[in-house]
Amino acid sequence: MDKHIRWHQATVSRQDREQINGHRSFILWFTGLSGAGKSTLAHRVEELLYLRSCRTYVFDGDNVRHGLCSDLGFSPEERHENIRRIGEMSKLFIDAGVIALTAFISPFRRDREMVRSLVDEGDFIEIYCAAPLKVCEQRDVKGLYEKARRGEIKNFTGISSPYEPPENPEIMVESGSDSLDTCARKILDYLERHDKIALVPESEQRWERIYEN
Ligand code: ADX
Repeated sequence: MDKHIRWHQATVSRQDREQINGHRSFILWFTGLSGAGKSTLAHRVEELLYLRSCRTYVFDGDNVRHGLCSDLGFSPEERHENIRRIGEMSKLFIDAGVIALTAFISPFRRDREMVRSLVDEGDFIEIYCAAPLKVCEQRDVKGLYEKARRGEIKNFTGISSPYEPPENPEIMVESGSDSLDTCARKILDYLERHDKIALVPESEQRWERIYEN
């Protein structure tokens, strides 16, 4: 880094922004194989948080690779750089008082741990979308597994590139077998129990129920 670059301390702090938003900021880091349901679940959780007036933003692997990370491929080094950029970006979102939800395969443990180390304890919530490879391959929403099996895509996670499951994720969801709402509810419950979002009594969860039906 250039020695002439100095950090400018904002006068409006994260705490000020959190206060005006009425909730804490943190990262919900979804990890899992392609087709495990990371993006779908992240967007579902975002909808539920929105209904509770939380400020949120979803970073999605496929979308980010159209812009911010369009120069990156899928070698281990490029994936590392992809995750590093998203990690830094999410950190800025925390500072902005926003809940960042990220949906990236992020197959390497050390890359996820690197992001964890960027932020304060408790601000990085790792969510393992534990759909088995067999299920993801059967779903094959984008037809990529078939191509990877035919050798048309190199370094494909689960086929020709490794996926290292989290050893101690804050939350694990069975996104291969449980319903979207069961998985989303598990995440909301965790956030309530850990004082990340306000507890909404069952009787007041009207909007969520209307939405779910
Ligand atoms: S990560 O490994 O760097 O975290 P990221 O989540 O951004 O990956 O991108 C994954 C998406 O890119 C997949 O859902 C899939 O649609 C697409 N993709 C294209 N090539 C590959 C590949 N070789 N391995 C995994 N996903 C790939």
